Amino acid sequence: DVPGLVDRFGRIARDLRVSVTEKCSLRCTYCMPAEGLPAIPREELLTPAEIARLVGIGVRDLGIREVRFTGGEPLMRADLAEIIGLSAAAAPGIDLSITTNGIGLDHRVGELVAAGLTRVNISLDTVDREHFAALTRRDRLPAVFAGIAAAHAAGLTPLKLNAVMMRQTLAGAADLLAWALEHGCRLRFIEQMPLDADHTWLRENMVSAEELLGVLRTRFDLVEAGRPDDPSSPAEEWLVDGGPATVGIIASVTRSFCAACDRTRITAEGTVRSCLFGDDETDLRGLLRGGADDAELARWWRGAMWGKQSGHGMEAAGFVPPVRSMGAIGG
Ligand code: GTP
Ligand code: 5AD
Ligand code: SF4
Repeated sequence: DVPGLVDRFGRIARDLRVSVTEKCSLRCTYCMPAEGLPAIPREELLTPAEIARLVGIGVRDLGIREVRFTGGEPLMRADLAEIIGLSAAAAPGIDLSITTNGIGLDHRVGELVAAGLTRVNISLDTVDREHFAALTRRDRLPAVFAGIAAAHAAGLTPLKLNAVMMRQTLAGAADLLAWALEHGCRLRFIEQMPLDADHTWLRENMVSAEELLGVLRTRFDLVEAGRPDDPSSPAEEWLVDGGPATVGIIASVTRSFCAACDRTRITAEGTVRSCLFGDDETDLRGLLRGGADDAELARWWRGAMWGKQSGHGMEAAGFVPPVRSMGAIGG
């Protein structure tokens, strides 16, 4: 066992999240500006071989145990299968997953699974087509359903669905849960964090876990079950109508799990970003392209982790959201 990636607060990062692009096929209002994010010049994006090299270092030298590719939307990269395949070769046996909006997954799932993809989490905030189109600024709900069906058919289970709860979609929350239960998906509701590109997040507009529970309870009986699988999981689980089905709630804002955070992140441009809310980043791409060896890259990564802040700091007076929005960090 290699010594893990530790920070000053005694947390150890075991979970690596790699953003592979800033591009997306949707424009969710809590994440992206209507016009999309400024394009990252191609030469500034990590290549599949560079990503795989960092994954290998993370797993071999730094104790990373699972890797998730995010975006933007990871399916926007035509070479995603190559990224996964080279990563699987660099870190054999590791859990390689993606967080995706599902659009186009039906056409790609075969090559991704063949490359070594083990799991997918799909973002789905509502099953009402009009609400979906308003929230994501694109009328693509049927494409997301097709992606979910394809993931199931390919055996990518357990299939988790992520729903950021917004005021406009709250009334449909129970319908969404019913849909997820019917389709054998593990739904997790997420409190909206101040990571929208437009910086319009307001604490008082946010749908809290507690408010959401009130809405769900008009239709379902819910009993708290804690974090049965994984104590570092962001989601607390609730048994639905006596179980065994559950629904998860990720209360990032009202019940921060920062103290148990086990994440480290690499951005699409190859910087280490240890916290969603810390604009401090350490450039590995420059080192990598400058000829640094694995030991040197690992040393810089450890240094970046040591600088990780204790938490998101949202409760503090004078909180300022990070410069990068969610789409530019990777969820
Ligand atoms: P599993 O391995 O399936 O449990 O994945 P996951 O829950 O770690 O990954 P996913 O990408 O599905 O993330 C779910 C949600 O958790 C994201 O959409 C974010 O809202 C939130 N989240 C992810 N990482 C962090 C983090 O570092 N800090 C906070 N506060 N929230 C996070
Ligand atoms: N707050 C919480 N979660 C968010 N996501 C995107 N933006 C936000 C936000 N502001 C989620 C998406 C997806 C993952 C990549 O991040 O719903 O599941
Ligand atoms: Fe795209 Fe995901 Fe951001 Fe929505 S949340 S705009 S699907 S990257």
